[in-house]
Amino acid sequence: MEKRLLGKTAIITGSARGIGREYALRMAKLGANVVITDIDLSAGKYKETDIKAKSVKEEVELLGVKSLEFEGDGTDESFVKKVVDDTIDTFGSLDILVNNIGGTGGAGPGLATDMEVEKFRRVIDINLTTTFIFSKHAGKVMKVQKSGKIINVASVAGFVPLFVVQPHYSAGKAAVISLTKTMALELAPYGVTVNAIAPGYISTVKWDAHFEAQIEDLVQKVPLGRIGTTEDCSKVIEFLATDLSDYLTGQTIFVDGGLMELNPSSSKIENYQI
Ligand SMILES: NC(=O)c1ccc[n+]([C@@H]2O[C@H](COP(=O)([O-])OP(=O)(O)OC[C@H]3O[C@@H](n4cnc5c(N)ncnc54)[C@H](O)[C@@H]3O)[C@@H](O)[C@H]2O)c1
Repeated sequence: MEKRLLGKTAIITGSARGIGREYALRMAKLGANVVITDIDLSAGKYKETDIKAKSVKEEVELLGVKSLEFEGDGTDESFVKKVVDDTIDTFGSLDILVNNIGGTGGAGPGLATDMEVEKFRRVIDINLTTTFIFSKHAGKVMKVQKSGKIINVASVAGFVPLFVVQPHYSAGKAAVISLTKTMALELAPYGVTVNAIAPGYISTVKWDAHFEAQIEDLVQKVPLGRIGTTEDCSKVIEFLATDLSDYLTGQTIFVDGGLMELNPSSSKIENYQI
């Protein structure tokens, strides 16, 4: 792989497992030093069978670049500020931020009319507030540098209500798409781009376990006829993190096998258990 990011530094949030781990490894293969941050760094316990070292930090280092790791909650501004400050102290610049933290954090599904405010707020915080706080502190640095790329991770659920029982998650991801545009406008004069990806159905250990019984039905909905892989997502992250996307900002790119552009009405997932 061409080392398009040699000498650059990337922070990947929520990178101890799943798709975030794949982003961290791809940035490392491209030559970037990689900062791993997660609320729980012990990825191994999520049964990811192909993990080749004790931690994602070690996996990254095995690829010949430097790495830092930070365990903490991305909704905590003092934690996020420390991650950004220590990154600059160690590597001298911050070139790429991938805001990958997301999901429901165990809060679980529910109908909007039954949902406790605390549960709604927690999921908005996980998906939106973490993206805001990391972008705020990285954006400050990038403004001064007059360069940088912020990449947010939304979801097709931010465009259509995939599940009627995920009002918190869908609203959080829709707001991430909006924040992407507003921050792109603020940072454009400084040469900093802000874009997002909106993955569709992407296979991870966790996702497969959750949707095991429905995978055949879901495949039928996807025009390209398969569930996406973490690599499908990381290839687009590579595009957005490198100079290949220099003249692109404020955009959200679907990584969904054609689901949203070609077959949006059938994207909704039925039979989701409350
Ligand atoms: N898997 C899919 O099909 C799919 C589809 C669309 C969008 N996405 C999005 O892609 C991203 C990654 O998804 P994934 O499937 O790998 O999920 P995942 O749950 O496996 O990974 C999320 C990571 O974020 C970490 N995290 C959660 N809350 C945090 C917090 N408050 N502070 C710090 N770290 C925190 C988790 O520990 C975990 O390592 C998420 O934003 C998700 O919403 C995934």
